[in-house]
Amino acid sequence: MAFSLDLEKNREKIEEYQEFLNTQKGKPGNLMIALHKAQQKFGCVPSEIQQIISDTLRVPLSEIYGVITFYSQFTLVPKGKCHVGVCMGTACYVKGSKQILEQYEEMLGVKAGETSADGQYSIEATRCIGACGLAPVSSVNEDIYGHLTKDAVTASMKKYEEVSE
Ligand code: FES
Repeated sequence: MAFSLDLEKNREKIEEYQEFLNTQKGKPGNLMIALHKAQQKFGCVPSEIQQIISDTLRVPLSEIYGVITFYSQFTLVPKGKCHVGVCMGTACYVKGSKQILEQYEEMLGVKAGETSADGQYSIEATRCIGACGLAPVSSVNEDIYGHLTKDAVTASMKKYEEVSE
């Protein structure tokens, strides 16, 4: 899903954010602080906000984009109410995490890196989450699921389907 921030609806939030950014000019580490604040305030760091950061802090857009896509805490689109992360680190990958990811995508009708149009589900391919002994691993909101099989993937979503009904 292509996401674009509604500038009119978010005008007040953007003005507040711009004021905050102005206080960060020239400070060391200001890009990470700016990104954290944006993620918190807008639920993601869309291109409109990246442009404001770039203009205010004098950081190239390519660098901002690189940082957002490197750190999993930042997203380009708002996460779904139910956010699935599938680890694609080496230990998980060799144990079939690619197939696990495809199963989630098929089951939820959302591709990795996207959020469903109704805002219910989002999926993300992540780096190692530090639970390699449980490979292959996924996370669904705050819960971690390990030793995933096809059946376990289906089971991991049961709780959230019930919540969303
Ligand atoms: S590689 Fe998946 S948890 Fe470490």
